[in-house]
Amino acid sequence: MPPPEIIETCRAMREYCDRARRDGLSIGFVPTMGSLHEGHLSLMRRAAADSDRVVVSVFVNPAQFGPNEDYEAYHRDLTGDVDKCAGAGVDVVFAPPAQEMYAPGACTLVDQSVLTEVLCGAFRPGHFRGVLTVVAKLFNIIGPCGACFGQKDYQQFVVIRRMAADLNFPVELTMCPTVREPDGLAMSSRNRYLSESERRDALCLYDALSTAKALFEQGERRGTELVAQMRCRFEKTPAAKVDYVAVVDPETLQPLSMIRGAAVAAVAVRLGPARLIDNMILGQA
Ligand code: PAJ
Repeated sequence: MPPPEIIETCRAMREYCDRARRDGLSIGFVPTMGSLHEGHLSLMRRAAADSDRVVVSVFVNPAQFGPNEDYEAYHRDLTGDVDKCAGAGVDVVFAPPAQEMYAPGACTLVDQSVLTEVLCGAFRPGHFRGVLTVVAKLFNIIGPCGACFGQKDYQQFVVIRRMAADLNFPVELTMCPTVREPDGLAMSSRNRYLSESERRDALCLYDALSTAKALFEQGERRGTELVAQMRCRFEKTPAAKVDYVAVVDPETLQPLSMIRGAAVAAVAVRLGPARLIDNMILGQA
């Protein structure tokens, strides 16, 4: 496969996409912050299977990091990322410098209520506003396309889907399964922050969620009981500081005390310098 073309300006990116569509080609889009791993690559392969041209954005978006979060420390390796994209059927890597995405004086934000007030939104004020703002910009630059996101960030998917519907973006969204390490830990760019012992402790997320899923499959429908059982698992790993443990409605993200159809079990813990999230869908969402 030829190496992907690297595009750094919004104008050139838009021209590429307009030209492709004029030629009758469909576009698959995968937004990322780089530091690519198999989870990201699975989205690219899915986009390549579904569309004629694949565009991957690599942009560490300052607007979605809080003041005490890891924006500066976030791992950056554009050359390595482009190499990985080459093997995954990617045609273009869109890698704009920060000032290309946020011109001096930029002050327009995209925000959302309700869905962003729960789960991660409650612990990361302004995070989803930053995500929505940059994704809205990216959707406007790329134009009509299919866009792939990971289930790993379940709330992010729901929030972006709502934005796309509310603001009439001509974008068809696909949620792709979470890719895990052999022992079950969800792949994440932030796993690299973990020490050896934290890496072992990090398995508590997968364990807790697997417990909830097994209980659900055995017929347990009390969300409160599933949450209690997951909390028990976290108590065995004192180094893991729990932000939330929840069983929520797949659409509204509101907590479910009794599960009638499907649900999402979602957890977030802080482990040393890393904040890790994971989730599993219970039933057919
Ligand atoms: P980033 O964390 O780089 O993730 C990019 C995409 O990869 C997201 O859709 C995320 O859900 C998906 N992903 C991450 N880990 C995954 C895994 N283990 N399995 C499957 N998919 C996985 O999410 C962002 O960037 C940013 O918020 C972004 C949407 C790019 C906006 O800046």
